Amino acid sequence: MKKVIFVCLGNICRSPLAEGIFDNFCKERGEHSIRCDSAGTAGYHIGSIPDKRAIQVANDNGIKLKHLGRKLEKEDFEDFDYIVAMDAQNQKDILSLKKLSVGEAKVLLFRDFDPEEKGDVPDPYYGSYEDFELVFEICRRSSENLFDFIRNDKI
Ligand code: 4NP
Repeated sequence: MKKVIFVCLGNICRSPLAEGIFDNFCKERGEHSIRCDSAGTAGYHIGSIPDKRAIQVANDNGIKLKHLGRKLEKEDFEDFDYIVAMDAQNQKDILSLKKLSVGEAKVLLFRDFDPEEKGDVPDPYYGSYEDFELVFEICRRSSENLFDFIRNDKI
């Protein structure tokens, strides 16, 4: 069993979408030994369902989001094998928290796996529905290469 957690700032837009999309991708490929979760670097939305636009874009693509918001904790570096940041600021914050932990999770940047363009998954929170559609496409594109990386990685 390999375990991956996707991390953004608020854990109501990008990372629950990434979790749902990647989980769906694994199941489509018949891979049932990768477990997915998501969390935020901030605790603004603990216990909240995802943003309604995230729920909508997932539903429009046949994916049900089941996650409730939570904050990334130092214990997650022990529980998970991979912590996947949505943007460079998230990655910095994750690496700061990692210093307080004895865990050895690998910290990755999601769009390093995007075959079209590297960089941040843009924060759609203050944006429009189209911004959520763009996040969806980026997550879907990036999932394929992340999936191959995790499957081939010896841990
Ligand atoms: P996320 O988007 O990090 O993709 O979940 C945000 C959600 C909430 C806030 C910021 C970004 N917020 O400031 O409450």
